[in-house]
Amino acid sequence: MPKLPSALRKPSKPGERGNGARRDGGGANGVEAEPHPVREKTKEGAIDVVGWVDQRTGASPFLTGLLLRKVPKGTNWFYTLGSATLFAFVVQALTGVFLAFYYVPSATEAYDSISHLTNDVFLGEFVRGLHKWGATMMIILIFLHMGRTFFFGAYKYPRELNWVIGVVLLILTLVMGLTGYLLPFDNRSYWATIVAMNITASGPVVGPYLADFLRAGSEFTATTLPRFYAVHMLLVPGLIIALIGAHLYLVVKLGTTAPPWLRAEAKPKSSREEKVG
Ligand code: HEM
Repeated sequence: MPKLPSALRKPSKPGERGNGARRDGGGANGVEAEPHPVREKTKEGAIDVVGWVDQRTGASPFLTGLLLRKVPKGTNWFYTLGSATLFAFVVQALTGVFLAFYYVPSATEAYDSISHLTNDVFLGEFVRGLHKWGATMMIILIFLHMGRTFFFGAYKYPRELNWVIGVVLLILTLVMGLTGYLLPFDNRSYWATIVAMNITASGPVVGPYLADFLRAGSEFTATTLPRFYAVHMLLVPGLIIALIGAHLYLVVKLGTTAPPWLRAEAKPKSSREEKVG
């Protein structure tokens, strides 16, 4: 059987203080509490399930590489911005599925379906708010993450491809914002989209074709809304998921870059060595 990380493989022995045992020194009188047999069995069961899946998929090296990878000295809070962006995307995907249960992508029914969702559905307004503000958060986080990788010089060799994938992810995230804006189909979203399409159509070379593709024709018609919806909830999320997979694969494969001030400290020594050599 392929090896699993020790945290998964080795449950603490009965009576031993470990993963599942109490860490507060036991009961009120300070005596170590006996591990609960049901809890122990559940833990063993979970380990067996992980082992079973791992034997059939061989997924553990990737997951171990992703979750337990070594990070360079000096790694700090700025390095959490990529994961924060990922979290924002997951929130968008989950809340988006909930909204899709109620949304009707038709020019005559979209507005009413959103009003129904907001006013009548249990937690509808809350989930809609999460999706709306989550979109803004994701855009802020992606820019901050991009800024971190830029200012830490993480776009340089050998991570140029990951930077390029990141740029495409940024563009796709902005397309999510643009296509989502039309969906409530009120006056503001309608006119904002008319303006956005006119700007897109004025772009060089591909601009007019791109605008025609998004509008589903040369004019804004009743088919424009379903087109935006399909792009918003199928095409672009699918591309984003695939690209996040490639992005994370490269992060695991190449590791992350140490902060520039630590690299600067390390440099004089190596350049001295080069001169000596
Ligand atoms: C959906 C959007 C994105 C997600 C979920 C994402 C996720 C991540 C994660 C989890 C990491 C590793 C931890 C970290 O360094 O923060 C990372 C690293 C990286 N990301 Fe992103 N990222 C996204 C967008 C971008 C963008 C827009 C760029 C730049 C244009 C970018 C460029 C990079 C680079 C160059 C690294 C390697 C960092 C290093 O070596 O230190 N990413 N990304």
